[in-house]
Amino acid sequence: MIINIVIWKFLYLCLSEMPRMKPPFSIRQFFFILFFASISLTSSAQLVYKDVAPIFYNRCTSCHHPGGHPPEHYTSYSETVPWVSLIKADLNSGKMPPWSPDTTYTRFLHERIITASEKATIINWINAGYPAGDTMLAPPVPVYNS
Ligand code: HEC
Repeated sequence: MIINIVIWKFLYLCLSEMPRMKPPFSIRQFFFILFFASISLTSSAQLVYKDVAPIFYNRCTSCHHPGGHPPEHYTSYSETVPWVSLIKADLNSGKMPPWSPDTTYTRFLHERIITASEKATIINWINAGYPAGDTMLAPPVPVYNS
């Protein structure tokens, strides 16, 4: 019983003193920790091949596959990486995927376009050094007849 009273008294003292006490770390240190925590979060969400493969399969491999017209094929990690700097340049310039009609004027069925976020995903992956990750996690490659 007496112990209880001492504990409560101690707790009460702590709580009443709290506003006058210095916090254990400064605001600056707090943001420092927050900053590094957010960096480690971002790097754990690093883009690897399995994240960009579906975009290539949806937007590029209808032409860029073995047997297709262009000589570059994006149907696997090892076939894609030799072309990353050209891919980045063509995505940035809008040269690829080829689609000349102006999408702000009128829209067509089966447009060969790529969304801004898909484009950003591929470019971020290339800028990050195009890591392979576990390529077995990529979705199955579409099958083409020619
Ligand atoms: C409608 C068919 C088609 C689609 C879809 C397509 N390409 Fe191409 N691409 C071509 C052809 C044809 C060439 C080769 C002739 C040329 O250079 O213009 C080519 C060439 C390229 C080149 C070679 C470099 C260059 O600039 O000449 C790159 C890189 C490329 N494509 C990237 C892509 C990417 C990335 C996608 C998907 C986002 C894509 N392409 C989608 C048809 C296509």
